[in-house]
Amino acid sequence: MFRKMSLLVVMLLAVAVFAAKIEIFSWWTAGGEAEGLQELFNIFSKANPGVEIINATVAGGAGAQAKAVLKTRMLGGDPPDTFQVHAGHELIDTWVKTGFMEPITFLYKQEGWDKAMPKGILDIVSYNGELWSVPVNIHRANVLWYNKAIFDKYGLKPPTTFEEFFQVADVLKSHGVIPFALGTKDGWEAAHAFETVLIGKLGAEGYKGLWTGETKWSDPRVTDALETFAKMLTYVNPDHSARTWDEACALIAEGKAAMNIMGDWAVGYFYAKNFKDFGWTLAPGNAGIFDALSDSFGLPKGAKNRDTVIAFLKVLGSKEGQVAFNLKKGSIPARTDVDKSLFPEYQRSAMDDWLKHEIVPSVMHGAAASEGWVTEFKDVISLFVARPDVKVTQKALINIAISQGVAQ
Ligand code: BGC
Repeated sequence: MFRKMSLLVVMLLAVAVFAAKIEIFSWWTAGGEAEGLQELFNIFSKANPGVEIINATVAGGAGAQAKAVLKTRMLGGDPPDTFQVHAGHELIDTWVKTGFMEPITFLYKQEGWDKAMPKGILDIVSYNGELWSVPVNIHRANVLWYNKAIFDKYGLKPPTTFEEFFQVADVLKSHGVIPFALGTKDGWEAAHAFETVLIGKLGAEGYKGLWTGETKWSDPRVTDALETFAKMLTYVNPDHSARTWDEACALIAEGKAAMNIMGDWAVGYFYAKNFKDFGWTLAPGNAGIFDALSDSFGLPKGAKNRDTVIAFLKVLGSKEGQVAFNLKKGSIPARTDVDKSLFPEYQRSAMDDWLKHEIVPSVMHGAAASEGWVTEFKDVISLFVARPDVKVTQKALINIAISQGVAQ
């Protein structure tokens, strides 16, 4: 009897020690994000029934808190099995060049992803002739969302220029409606909106040049962008500092505010809340430009469950995974061979635009510049919200570029 019991204990212990697990680290906790992640888990679990998924999320849009937690863990030699990271500078500068990742070129070849994904996407996950993460989507950052019922009620047309934006905002204000919903609680949301103002004022080439040194931060168009943004801020909800990005979207869904500028994870939020009466256009002055970013996952060196991570990455890159995830997330698949008709109207339009618009990399979401620059950029714009001093802010933006080694 006693021997039988101890055998059982030993067996249970063995199961506990050797049970397959995978810890997946991300900041996907809001409406749309959490549902998208769950779809990936469901597909993975069906194919890998014995594996326990540890959903290691750290709330805070754009990785506002997650990135710091991740850094501590990576530097402390305790990497999650895999983690969300923006394709482009965030992946390459922060994690690849520093030697924290294993290349996964073999998976691209094995799974045919090098054929199924466009060159522009493969480029931003490449370094030194190797591929380093699996892009699960393409998000668009420069969208203006609006509440259709409010626009209809006051006979308004979605604005496409800054001039129209202010005209519409004045009408809304005169009727006691919040014209422009904003949440600044996590410190990145205003910088996100400002990024689209920079694009609107500088155009695709001018905006891209800001991150390479071809456009100087002293450019009068940057001054104009700051002045314009300061004016836009006079139309926002007074409680913006208490709201996160999704809580700002809630103002649109609840009919309390008319417009906001947010990436298309906002549409994932609207789907999750079953809010259907939204419309979209591009942020003012952004016609013909696709401000892009991509969420991806890679294979950290020293991941405890390497084989399981590879199985998960396969789901991320698969057609099935990309369709199920993006249907909830609001983004479009990174693969170009999916059936477009499976997607709702907004995403079909994003797929069309992705092929015909000029693509620029989002700064706030890791594609355009290194993480250090992004952090300083967002902090300066956060200060600007509290104290919209154009001169001081432009000087600070110039200094950041210099400190990043980009001559001004
Ligand atoms: C990510 C999106 C996410 C958004 C808000 C962005 O940086 O790329 O996937 O939904 O932040 O959290």
